[in-house]
Amino acid sequence: MATKKTSGKTKAASKSASKPVSKPAVTGAASQKQAVPAPARETQPALRPDAELATREVHSPVIREEGELALKESAVPATVETPSAAAGPAPAAQAVTRAPAAGKGMRREISPRPKPQGNPYKPMPATVAEVIQETGNIKTLRVILDDAEAMRSFSYEPGQVGQLSVFGAGESTFVINSPPSQKDYLQFSVMQAGEVTAAIHRLSPGDKVGVRAPLGNYFPYESWKGKDVFFVGGGIGMAPIRTIMLHLLERKADYGKISLLYGARTPRDMAFSYELDDWLRRPDLDCTLCIDAPSEGWEHKVGLIPNVLLELNPDPSNCVAVLCGPPIMIKFTVQALEKLHFAPENIVTTLEKRMKCGIGICGRCNIGGRYVCVDGPVFTWKELQELPPEL
Ligand SMILES: Cc1cc2nc3c(=O)[nH]c(=O)nc-3n(C[C@H](O)[C@H](O)[C@H](O)COP(=O)(O)OP(=O)(O)OC[C@H]3O[C@@H](n4cnc5c(N)ncnc54)[C@H](O)[C@@H]3O)c2cc1C
Ligand code: FES
Repeated sequence: MATKKTSGKTKAASKSASKPVSKPAVTGAASQKQAVPAPARETQPALRPDAELATREVHSPVIREEGELALKESAVPATVETPSAAAGPAPAAQAVTRAPAAGKGMRREISPRPKPQGNPYKPMPATVAEVIQETGNIKTLRVILDDAEAMRSFSYEPGQVGQLSVFGAGESTFVINSPPSQKDYLQFSVMQAGEVTAAIHRLSPGDKVGVRAPLGNYFPYESWKGKDVFFVGGGIGMAPIRTIMLHLLERKADYGKISLLYGARTPRDMAFSYELDDWLRRPDLDCTLCIDAPSEGWEHKVGLIPNVLLELNPDPSNCVAVLCGPPIMIKFTVQALEKLHFAPENIVTTLEKRMKCGIGICGRCNIGGRYVCVDGPVFTWKELQELPPEL
């Protein structure tokens, strides 16, 4: 199991001992020993210079009204089974049982639905300012709204998402992963999956896109004040973690210890490689990097995220764990956190259930009575346990 693989290099790679990831040149020469590759960048000459800091206001894209829906016949409550070797890693062989779903004939409250104002599907025209090749299949786009006033006054909270549209291809949902203090552009990191994301990957600086944002809820970071926060990001799941982590680090005095465990399959799969060196060196962040299997030149942890998490053994007594990544990672990381005695209400994650409208109208994204697009995508593990087993 991966824990065993972590001996040797891994043990020597505690924060104090680990060597920082060298900062690659923007031009892209990968000079660092551990082969976290440098990103390639395409840029427009300059990002809009006139963006000013504006007073921030939490923008709610949704006006809600009361509503109720009769529950369809529910499935038998599910149990997330103890992992088998075939299913993946087995860091904490502990079954997670969901709360029973409502029985036949019961009614379940459904989230209030939005009352759209104007045309809620109308995207804001925007221009791609910069494209960064993060990994083989992830690109980051920095996008500027064409309306300078709309750009200046645009406000959002960490965890909120946007619908990014490409003409002739369609639109898809992505986390806005620049911190809200970044007022010059909106940043989206996109992993290629299908048609829309392939079209996004073909974009170049200067190309036009559409943006509907901000959508959804956000991380309840006000309620974490005075607590330690332990972030866990896996692969492209590092995108929302980056936003909230940078947001909290700007307010570090309000929080206890802030830690990050960021894992990817290989060094080449690590997005934001050009920032890792800074994150490792920051005195206000306890940053740990890991990859699944040993790789030449890698001097950080080796092992699957749940196993490395168990090894790091964070103190759950006054700590919130915030995680995002592929479903298999979430499943076993939650089990590891439960083994470490994190309470379900102190485990926070984001869901990636597929969305269409993003504003609670089409019914595409509901789980029982909750709409991922308006009630989420951020949920506590306690909230998720109370939902029907539809994920
Ligand atoms: C709240 C939220 C935030 C997201 N944030 C990001 C982000 O920051 N970066 C990013 O790269 N992606 C993110 N996604 C996923 C992204 O929306 C999808 O990958 C994208 O819509 C795929 O569109 P497509 O047309 O290229 O692929 P499609 O042709 O629609 O699908 C291609 C393949 O991807 C699968 N797929 C599509 N959408 C999803 C999804 N939501 N979850 C799981 N599998 C999916 C399909 O089942 C299919 O196998 C997010 C999704 C949600 C709901
Ligand atoms: S209701 Fe349409 S995506 Fe959520």
